[in-house]
Amino acid sequence: MARVKVAVLISGRGSNLQSLIDACADPSFPAEIVHVLSNVAGVLGLERAEQAGIATSVISHRDFPDRAAFDRAVDARLRAVGAELICLAGFMRILTEAFVESWRDRLINIHPSLLPSFKGLHTHERAIAAGVRFAGCTVHFVRPAMDDGPIIVQAAVPILPGDDADGLGRRVLAAEHRCYPLALKLVASGRAVVSGDTVTVRSATSPENATINPAED
Ligand code: GAR
Repeated sequence: MARVKVAVLISGRGSNLQSLIDACADPSFPAEIVHVLSNVAGVLGLERAEQAGIATSVISHRDFPDRAAFDRAVDARLRAVGAELICLAGFMRILTEAFVESWRDRLINIHPSLLPSFKGLHTHERAIAAGVRFAGCTVHFVRPAMDDGPIIVQAAVPILPGDDADGLGRRVLAAEHRCYPLALKLVASGRAVVSGDTVTVRSATSPENATINPAED
């Protein structure tokens, strides 16, 4: 079976990128990463890609007069490298509606909260301050509104007494590294399908006490 060609967009450390690289190393995984694009030069994520033999680009938003011009340059590069699906992995730029709509249902993102709670930045500090009992992460299809769109996979991470943002963030990040490869697998294999504002996942299990939903398979 042909593997879906994926481009990953990053801005920094790239630990989620690494989880996708590791998953794609299995020849039976339904996706392959053909390109990694960063809007920031010199970041660890670019090194990870190079280490894995994946072609990279840096397109700095600072070199463009506005968001639309930056997004057009990114879009042109992604099409030139033959990307069929885009994964945002710690890509810290808001994308224009034109970009998002032109990749509709082929653009996914990971966010470190249980969406629709805690969109935006500083999610762990805000979850602790709000006194919620579970934090977590979400992989979702991207829509023009920030951190919005049909949810593919979520993981719940309990907030413990005395937790601080760093400690909680580390545990959520570990959950992210399990959720993103799972979500990519479900999308690339055609098992996760958008219908209206939600995603239907074919032949997935969701055990009652699971913290990742749907369950990893
Ligand atoms: C991750 O926690 C990701 O969920 C978050 O940035 C971090 C990137 O880490 N993304 C967002 O906040 C997007 N709204 P990484 O570079 O090590 O993958």
